[in-house]
Amino acid sequence: MSPAPATASIPAEPLGTNAPPRHVAIIMDGNGRWAAAKHLPRVAGHREGARAVKRTVSAAIRHGVEWLTIYAFSSENWRRPAGEVLDLTGLLRQYLRTEIAELASNGVRIRFIGARDRFDAGIQQDLARSERDTAGNTKLNLTVALSYGSRDEILTAALALAQAIRDGRVAPDAVTEESFGGFLSTHGIPDPDLIIRTSGEQRLSNFLLWQAAYAELAFLDVLWPDFDEAHFAAAMADFSRRERRFGARPG
Ligand code: FPP
Repeated sequence: MSPAPATASIPAEPLGTNAPPRHVAIIMDGNGRWAAAKHLPRVAGHREGARAVKRTVSAAIRHGVEWLTIYAFSSENWRRPAGEVLDLTGLLRQYLRTEIAELASNGVRIRFIGARDRFDAGIQQDLARSERDTAGNTKLNLTVALSYGSRDEILTAALALAQAIRDGRVAPDAVTEESFGGFLSTHGIPDPDLIIRTSGEQRLSNFLLWQAAYAELAFLDVLWPDFDEAHFAAAMADFSRRERRFGARPG
């Protein structure tokens, strides 16, 4: 793909009538291609990607977004070469130790979804501590998907529901979409209004499949490490012009 557009070349776009999305979810893609284009090791792309996360959190706060979910590590990412997995988990460890205080002081509450038990005990402790230390914050709810896969999440929820029915805790005819959502790792989190994927790829890659039912999708031709405030603002402006029908007729 062609290099990401420079921030200055993004035109100011007129706003539509939709209120800003309450919940934005992002598939951060293109770190490897960013590094390759600069003849750098892939880890340099991931490192720059972590900086883009910081910019995005600030942008989300400025735009009044209440919930931000980022796909930082998929359950499939464990299949990458051991060295890259080590780089990614190392970056995560560093992020958890150095950035949480700043997130906390900016009023960010952090949560993690995904199979956290696949990470080493040290990282699991850092995850729990980060959640605990930011639990009282209300400005922005940041959810980080780690070792996350949506099909596995849905299957786990279905098995938990089946068990609850077998135990007599849930009556089968009382099961609704809403009550099923309570078995997902995102229980208590509103569905995303807008899902952004960078790098030009146009797929969801096992991310929030249940929750994405009525999300607007935005596929941006920018590599994640280059994603900045202007790209975020452009995605917000684009969202404000979308016609959201939730299955109903126009108007
Ligand atoms: C996709 O790029 C990105 C990832 C697999 C990891 C995302 C990680 C970060 C943004 C940095 C760490 C984040 C935190 C919160 C510490 P890719 O490697 O698939 O890129 P490619 O498709 O160009 O190869």
